[in-house]
Amino acid sequence: TKILHVVGARPNFMKIAPVMQAVAKAGFAEQKLVHTGQHYDVAMSDVFFTDLGMPVPDLHLAVGSGSHAEQTAKVLVAFERVCLAEQPDLVVVAGDVNSTLACALDCAKLRIPCAHVEAGLRSFDLAMPEEVNRIVTDRLCEILLTPSPDADENLRREGTDPARVFRVGNVMIDTLRAHLPLARATGSPARHGVQPGAYGVLTLHRPSNVDDPAVLAGLLEAVGELQRQLPIVFPAHPRTRRRLEESGLAARAAAMGGLHLCEPLGYLEFLGLVAGAKLVLTDSGGLQEETTALGIPCLTLRENTERPVTVSEGTNTLVGVDPRRIAAEARLALSGQGKAGRVPALWDGHAAERIAEVLRTWRR
Ligand code: UD1
Repeated sequence: TKILHVVGARPNFMKIAPVMQAVAKAGFAEQKLVHTGQHYDVAMSDVFFTDLGMPVPDLHLAVGSGSHAEQTAKVLVAFERVCLAEQPDLVVVAGDVNSTLACALDCAKLRIPCAHVEAGLRSFDLAMPEEVNRIVTDRLCEILLTPSPDADENLRREGTDPARVFRVGNVMIDTLRAHLPLARATGSPARHGVQPGAYGVLTLHRPSNVDDPAVLAGLLEAVGELQRQLPIVFPAHPRTRRRLEESGLAARAAAMGGLHLCEPLGYLEFLGLVAGAKLVLTDSGGLQEETTALGIPCLTLRENTERPVTVSEGTNTLVGVDPRRIAAEARLALSGQGKAGRVPALWDGHAAERIAEVLRTWRR
């Protein structure tokens, strides 16, 4: 069996890395790694290959940034050529980025079986581009690898044949568990001007939070309040940094003595920093899961989540974007009265092995 794995954007790397390792161990004839190039900066891509010990991609499609249509279409055309040349028996895609959707669509048209890692997640919010990608990808893929029971239930409700659905657990937590000791040794709070256990970590990149200057200003106001009590490290996504500058808010952020803005961090340094934090504030999907796995309180700056087990079982609280609500929830979390949380079933570091077993035994 010849397998092609696809990565494109930052959150894909830590999901595919353990799958490739498990597939290699399971003795498949051949596997290749394709990078679409959706993310291309060293800090958004290369550093993850080094940190995660991933092989250099066999093929790089260099699609870069663009509108949703442009980016998706470029991947669609480029990956079709790859499939025709490589003739894979199976393609593996992960997550919910534009590259995921485009490659799943190519496979459906070329009748190549495609496996979706992290299938079945739903925010039920079609204003979120990733929700469109999730729904369409799951409709097209033949093998749906889910992280949690809510995902199985979402797929069932959409009328998905249960024979296509395999609950394998959370592969990103495989990567977290494998790298945590090294991450703790690498991530240095001091380098960011803060003391171990006595700081918060903030990430922001969702278009709904950073593209509207009024929303971004409100979030910055909440952060401005919090950084007086708790220093906050804020590795800024390129989109967010650009929006801060365009909206004239960059100066306001720079004037906050307790807010430590920095470039996007590599996997190990970021995980190490999060593992030593008192509180995380984020609009990321993956970080909601990583904080739940680490038992660190997380305030998610969104109205909904496609990862509800992080709220029902984990340490995550949905707080939206209202500055007063954020301040109140942050106070609660810092007082130690926040949620305790437990680690969901099958977030045990062995999800990729279960995926390799599904792929090995699957028959069309
Ligand atoms: C994408 C994913 C999102 C994921 C996020 C993680 C989609 C629809 N969105 O959003 O689900 O959570 O990645 O980061 O696929 N840029 C750079 N350097 C890079 C990459 C991007 O400067 O290496 C800048 C460009 O100006 C670009 C902008 O960031 O226009 C947005 O990049 P894009 O890939 O379109 O979406 P993300 O916001 O990163």
